[in-house]
Order: sequence, then structure tokens, then C-alpha cells
Amino acid sequence: MVDSGTGVSLVADYSEWQARDYYQTYYSEVVLPDEQAVLAYQLEVMRAAPQRFGRALEYGCGPTLHRAIAAAPYAFRLDMADWLADNLQAVRDWLAADADNADWTRFTRFILATEKQRRIDTARMRQREATTRKVVRGLYVSDARWRHPLGRERLAFYDLLISGFCLDAIASDKRVWRRCMRNVLSMVAPGGTTILHFLHKCRAYKVGNRMFPGSNLAVDDVRDVLEELGFAGRSIDVQIIPCPDNAQYGYAGILTASARRERIVD
Ligand SMILES: C[S@@+](CC[C@H](N)C(=O)[O-])C[C@H]1O[C@@H](n2cnc3c(N)ncnc32)[C@H](O)[C@@H]1O
Repeated sequence: MVDSGTGVSLVADYSEWQARDYYQTYYSEVVLPDEQAVLAYQLEVMRAAPQRFGRALEYGCGPTLHRAIAAAPYAFRLDMADWLADNLQAVRDWLAADADNADWTRFTRFILATEKQRRIDTARMRQREATTRKVVRGLYVSDARWRHPLGRERLAFYDLLISGFCLDAIASDKRVWRRCMRNVLSMVAPGGTTILHFLHKCRAYKVGNRMFPGSNLAVDDVRDVLEELGFAGRSIDVQIIPCPDNAQYGYAGILTASARRERIVD
């Protein structure tokens, strides 16, 4: 986003990103209502799959673990990627920590409750986090603007690709978002599933006291690109989750989407 008067960018660059600020702003206190809704959505899509996914990727994970904790029992292997090495270091620290690290425990409890697990106690939560620590394999620095964000050998490689609030947060320019969608989703294998979350109609979102870019997406933007990229029309689901309380952070709704790949489009 550029100031029309001065031509100066009003949004920060990711070199100014602080993993801790992000955790503090969005994840340190409660499981926010919009996050409850997208985690429930992720779980519903994964549970509806006929079998466990073989290879899964969380793209643009940031310093977060909650989507990985949700995905862990549904995949044999889960890789994680992000542009910032610092974010991956936060992930690595949690993976290497012992069960006493409570940063994501509130999310683990929420995930187990959403799955309607009967007994949700400390042992059960530790077990889910231990499964996550086992299932996560590769941690990769990657740029969604690269044609092959994890190299050519990962083309059509993953059976499940999850990406939350990353591809629309790279630039304020929708064309950049479209290219990043093409690049990243080229890693989904035919028959594979993607689960995506974006900020709805957001031009900039807040982390600490900085604003980062948003691609200003609506439902049709997401549906159209998924169709263009070879995802089966009847499998495409795009929903808006209102979250008016988050207007203070630059958005009042979330877009959540899922789809199954029919063919490769190169
Ligand atoms: C809003 S955060 C989302 C983090 C996490 N997925 C979540 O749901 O909270 C946006 C993420 O996009 C990453 N990112 C920014 N530019 C990127 C790029 N060019 N390629 C890949 N990831 C990028 C940032 O490092 C950051 O972790």
C-alpha cells in the first residue's frame, strides 16, 4: 500500500518482522474466535479425507505451531516452510523443547476439544504435542515468489498443503498473490488437498506497532484462482468468517478455503 500523496510505502517489510511480536499480538492470550473457526475448518477438512495424508506441507507457518499440532495425526510426514529463518527458529525451538513448553498448549486443548476427544488432560495434550514433534520433518526457508518455492523436485509432491495468512500477506498487489498461489500450489499432487486462510478485504494488518501488507481478497478472487490452477470446481469451498472485533488489526473477516487438485497446470 502506497500513500497517494507521498508515494511512500505505508506497510513494513518482512525484514522488520518480529516473531515474538506476532506471537504476542495474535496467540499469547486466548484462542481468538476467528482462529477457533479456521482451526475447526482445518480439522473438518482433514477428518473428511478417506485416509491419512502421506506428505503434508504447512507453507508460511511463521513462528506458529497450532496448524501443525492440528495436522499431526492426519499425516505421516509434515514439512514446514517460511521466508524468515527467525520464524523457523521459533518452530525449531518448540520442536526441540520438552513437554513443559506451554506456548501452544491452549491451542492443543482447543484442538482436542474440537475433535470431541473424551478425556482432555495434561497427558493427552502432551501426547498430541509429542506426535507433532515426531511428524514434523523438514523445516525450509522458502520464498513464495520463486516459481518453485521448494525446488523443482517438490512439484506435485504433497498430498496436503496448508497455508494460513501467508500468500495474501506478501504484497498489497493482487497480482503478486496470484503468482504466489500458482507457485506454492504447484506443489500439490493430483488428488491432493489444500486448506488456505486469508484476510478478507484487508490492505494492511497489524503486528506490534507495524502494519504489514494484505492483498485485499474477496471470495471470488480465491475461487477463480483455484479453478484456474486445476482444482476441481465441485471441490472448491470458500467461506467468509466475520470477526468484527479484529477491525483494530486491519480486517473484519477471514476467508477460509479448501479444494482438491484435479490436474497440474504449469
Ligand atoms: C501473517 S504471517 C502468518 C503466519 C502463520 N501461518 C499464522 O497463521 O499465524 C505471514 C507469514 O508469511 C511469511 N512470508 C512473508 N513473505 C513471504 C514470502 N515471500 N514467501 C514465503 N513466506 C513469506 C512471513 O514470514 C510470515 O511468517
